[in-house]
Amino acid sequence: MSEAQWERTLTVSTAEQTHALAAALGGVLEAGDLLVLTGELGAGKTTFTQGLGEGLGVRAGIISPTFVLVRIHPNRADGPRPGGPDLVHVDAYRLDSAAEIDDIDLENTMDTAVTVVEWGRDRVEHLSDSRLEVDLLRSVGGEDTEATTDGGVMDFDTDDDDEPRTIVFRGFGPRWAEAPQLLEITSPVEGN
Ligand SMILES: Nc1ncnc2c1ncn2[C@@H]1O[C@H](COP(=O)(O)OP(=O)(O)OP(=O)(O)O)[C@@H](O)[C@H]1O
Ligand SMILES: [Mg+2]
Repeated sequence: MSEAQWERTLTVSTAEQTHALAAALGGVLEAGDLLVLTGELGAGKTTFTQGLGEGLGVRAGIISPTFVLVRIHPNRADGPRPGGPDLVHVDAYRLDSAAEIDDIDLENTMDTAVTVVEWGRDRVEHLSDSRLEVDLLRSVGGEDTEATTDGGVMDFDTDDDDEPRTIVFRGFGPRWAEAPQLLEITSPVEGN
């Protein structure tokens, strides 16, 4: 399935807004859903996944799964969606092919979990007939993010400083025939 059925672009200005947007999305995801996260190093893929985990109400502790390729976060009985889906968080950065993805047996958990794959593009599409793609992009045209002078003091950006992101969602397959209602809002940044 190569053609997206729809595309929605939102912009956020802080990591907290990325988290909050993902948490809202986590509130409407269902077991069997496959999310494919794309974005350069530090774009916010794990930050987004942490927000999904909050919205799903899964056990905390979502981190960059650098050495462990797959982590399963069970749904919490005291969370916002008791009995809801678990979260399976995959980092496919070191996996070179769909064949290596098959070795980690995601099929076993897909029926009862939302499966989120960082660096999943061109590796996991075969796992489901539907997927939601999420691309996180450092917003372009931000010359002012390199270094600024403030009263003569150089202020270099670090990774932890909030920066704008453009987040592009694309739906593929029957599950995503319609865009989720929460993506129909204008950017949460506007007017804030
Ligand atoms: N608008 C934003 N959205 C998300 N993260 C942001 C934003 N602005 C700044 N950040 C910061 O950028 C960093 C994103 O790190 P994160 O681990 O989520 O990226 P990643 O895409 O998972 O990276 P990797 O490719 O290494 O797995 C965090 O330190 C976060 O605080
Ligand atoms: Mg990450």
